[in-house]
Amino acid sequence: MNNYIGVFDSGIGGFTILEKLKEILPKEKFLYYADRDNVPYGNKTDEELLEITSGIVEGLKKYGCKMIVIACNTATTRCMKKLKEKYQDMLFVGVVPAIKVACDNDFKNTLVMATPATIEAERTLQLVKENKKKEQNIYLVACEGLAPAIEKGDFKTIDKILNNVAKDYQDKNIDAVVLGCTHYPLIKEEILAKMPNVQLIDGSLGVANEVKRQLEENNLLNEGTGCIHFLEKIV
Ligand code: DGL
Repeated sequence: MNNYIGVFDSGIGGFTILEKLKEILPKEKFLYYADRDNVPYGNKTDEELLEITSGIVEGLKKYGCKMIVIACNTATTRCMKKLKEKYQDMLFVGVVPAIKVACDNDFKNTLVMATPATIEAERTLQLVKENKKKEQNIYLVACEGLAPAIEKGDFKTIDKILNNVAKDYQDKNIDAVVLGCTHYPLIKEEILAKMPNVQLIDGSLGVANEVKRQLEENNLLNEGTGCIHFLEKIV
């Protein structure tokens, strides 16, 4: 057992989760895998996603990971349940759009930006149903192409997509934007430039706290020196 916490995403998006994990759990050893061969996850079917993520889980297991963090809203909302059933000996923590945080903080008009697969996921609709109060509005917007554009650093496409989103919701008095894809916190400034009066919300703190809670509960906290290793390939 190498005592690692495996963290993965389709690319660089999971860094936004990794950063928070490192802050909250500085003594842990993290093993990060960016699955660039399969980016974007947001347009894949559930079957494709389960096959891809199962391969990653099996790879991370070989490194002796004590826990796997799915640093991707798409993979979490689409297949975390199935992964938990398939790998019952593994601890999983995933990230979902922080709709609960927006609702609990009494924002009136919340826009949830995420990949097409996350927006259409049953889990996302369930989060709205469970948390939305009567007087609140939650708008779900599938940002087709945004995660791959962030992955490539294609700022022209990012600008075009954000312009369309801002235009489509300009008369809705949006006061909070849930960043429902882990790639999106990487373009916080660009989002705020188009929608200056909104509060941006992401799920990274919630994930880090949940990881800590589960490690404590299972007596798995590391007491040594923390580190981050990046995996080139999953074997
Ligand atoms: N960063 C991921 C998410 O949170 C996936 C983006 C993608 O590959 O489509 O959904």
